[in-house]
Amino acid sequence: MSLITLRQLLDHAAENDYGVPAFNINNMEQGLAIMKAAKKCDAPVIMQASRGARSYSGDIMLRHMVQALAEMYPEIPICMHQDHGNNEATCSSAIRHGFTSVMMDGSLEADMKTPASYEYNIAITERVARMAHWVGASVEGELGVLGSLETGEAEEEDGSGASGKLSMEQLLTDPDQAVDFVEKTKVDALAIACGTSHGAYKFSRKPDGDILAMNVIEAIHKKLPGTHLVMHGSSSVPQELQDIINTCGGDMPQTYGVPVEEIERGIKNGVRKVNIDTDCRMAMTGQFRKIATQDATQFDPRKFLIPAMEAMEALCLDRFERFGTAGNAASIKVIPMDNMARRYAEGSLDPVAA
Ligand code: G3H
Ligand code: 13P
Ligand code: ZN
Repeated sequence: MSLITLRQLLDHAAENDYGVPAFNINNMEQGLAIMKAAKKCDAPVIMQASRGARSYSGDIMLRHMVQALAEMYPEIPICMHQDHGNNEATCSSAIRHGFTSVMMDGSLEADMKTPASYEYNIAITERVARMAHWVGASVEGELGVLGSLETGEAEEEDGSGASGKLSMEQLLTDPDQAVDFVEKTKVDALAIACGTSHGAYKFSRKPDGDILAMNVIEAIHKKLPGTHLVMHGSSSVPQELQDIINTCGGDMPQTYGVPVEEIERGIKNGVRKVNIDTDCRMAMTGQFRKIATQDATQFDPRKFLIPAMEAMEALCLDRFERFGTAGNAASIKVIPMDNMARRYAEGSLDPVAA
């Protein structure tokens, strides 16, 4: 079994100058697609489950699925991460179900709609970090609220996403506040806001610096060179996937995602975890639509799921290669969680001030 903590994996990524895609999973097919791609290129893996994914599959199913994948691919370290935990209970139950890492998203209140105060965010994130570190699990916090710099609004993903108009101060993480936040909460990784948002409809045009503020990431990295940064909403929404969906009966309005070259720029500036869900959804759904339109007599789910898995695998492989994750799995010797817990207790994993 090779379950790794986020902290150990991102420390390795920082030492070796690469980024790690964090793919969302809900089911076996997505898990297999990620692992097949990782094995092809020797990449370590971050799989993450949202609260929606946990209620879709059930915690017991997810736990056994991840353990099965780890058994099938013992050479690939897997970090199992809670995506957008909304409170202490979500994060602690994830850890009880074998997750090695949690995100405490205190940028929003527990309803995942109301932007939270800075004081609320610090207090809840610090509590979760203390709890997780006792058992050696890692914690990602978020400072700044995800949302579009074009509209000032967040996309709503299954009921999660800030409601109402957001100000520029909320939409762009403040570098000085980031230093204070990391020092006070002791998070292992920091998700920042720079104009990306969840879902397919991120930008109305190919983004430039006015609507995708990569300079904010550079400024944060200068102040916090030892902190692992996380980009959410980092699907690229490839044109070819939009075209497959739309030529096979879909009706997705033209849209633009985060160009992979901008993510590569982020990786040069401290971004170590890159969250991708929408691209995988689109890769699979494109194939479902294609099979359904090409062979209307087809009713065997495997005839839909096999090409869907292959399309997702190709996407994952591309991101592992472009982010520099490929070729790194074999050199990681997994540190058990107990050992990580001891290191937190000693203070040797505390954030280092800039
Ligand atoms: O956080 C956003 C991810 O795309 C998860 O989405 O809540 O629909 O599973 P979900
Ligand atoms: P996308 O919707 O861009 O794939 O973002 C996923 C994400 O940030 C999950 O936390
Ligand atoms: Zn996210």
